[in-house]
Amino acid sequence: IVTLGHLLHEQRLIKSVKEQELMAQAAQISVAAQYRALAIVGPSVTEADIEAELLYSYRLQRAKSEAYPSIVATGENACTLHYVQNESLLLEGDLVLIDAGCELQYYASDVTRTYPVSGRFSPAQRDVYDIVLAANLAAIEACRAGNHFNLPHEAATLVLVEGLIELGLLQGDPEQVIAQGDHHKFCPHKTSHWLGLDVHDVGDYRLGDAWRDLMPGMVLTVEPGIYIPRDDATAEIPEPYRGLGIRIEDAILIQNEGCRVLTDALIKDADDIEARMAARASSADMTRVV
Ligand code: GLY
Ligand code: MN
Repeated sequence: IVTLGHLLHEQRLIKSVKEQELMAQAAQISVAAQYRALAIVGPSVTEADIEAELLYSYRLQRAKSEAYPSIVATGENACTLHYVQNESLLLEGDLVLIDAGCELQYYASDVTRTYPVSGRFSPAQRDVYDIVLAANLAAIEACRAGNHFNLPHEAATLVLVEGLIELGLLQGDPEQVIAQGDHHKFCPHKTSHWLGLDVHDVGDYRLGDAWRDLMPGMVLTVEPGIYIPRDDATAEIPEPYRGLGIRIEDAILIQNEGCRVLTDALIKDADDIEARMAARASSADMTRVV
């Protein structure tokens, strides 16, 4: 008996032009759904309202379903990585993390943004948000053919750790912190996974002992995050940082030159998010009956 899995998985790793277009469309539908969700983010809605908005938007755009259970996590719920309960009320002053993607003609999309419920980040939220965003951008910069799969993760991790040291949430030299794994209590997951017919798609990440090289046609996510549990007793954590969970995720297509960010149309700069939420609040058609 010869199992064909390995051969098929390798074929799925490199997307044809047709597949790339489908994945770009799936990403675009998920981006539009995020904008629709962002339009209702506020203190009087629940995580369920937002999940419903996402699903409604997918179907309006002719995607059949979600690619995985949507994660709509407000406040400390965002510190639970695969939180899917989606029933809490959004509270003024908290954040809401939305990790959601549609499936289009069997192809998955996957995108995460984190928004301030009240429309403005608190100083502590903004500190952490800007570190995660810098890590996301550093990882994307490392997404190019010829770089090995783990380079985006290494780039993101260095930025996260340097930022956490600067905030005083970790102590020591960045290289040493990373070698000891001290950052895992705030950054517990890897930065990337393959994306394709499945959200965590098949395909080896290593060939033998070494990380494999990125090649044109591969699609992967970059999704650095920082999670600071409210009751963490293992570190000196000032109150404003407690209970924050922030992740910023994009889907990346490796090209001959550099990469294409399939989810690029979704804003992620904190100023842009605040400006969009402020403009929305002043617009009469955003009035919502709850
Ligand atoms: N977006 C869900 C995950 O990557 O696990
Ligand atoms: Mn993901």
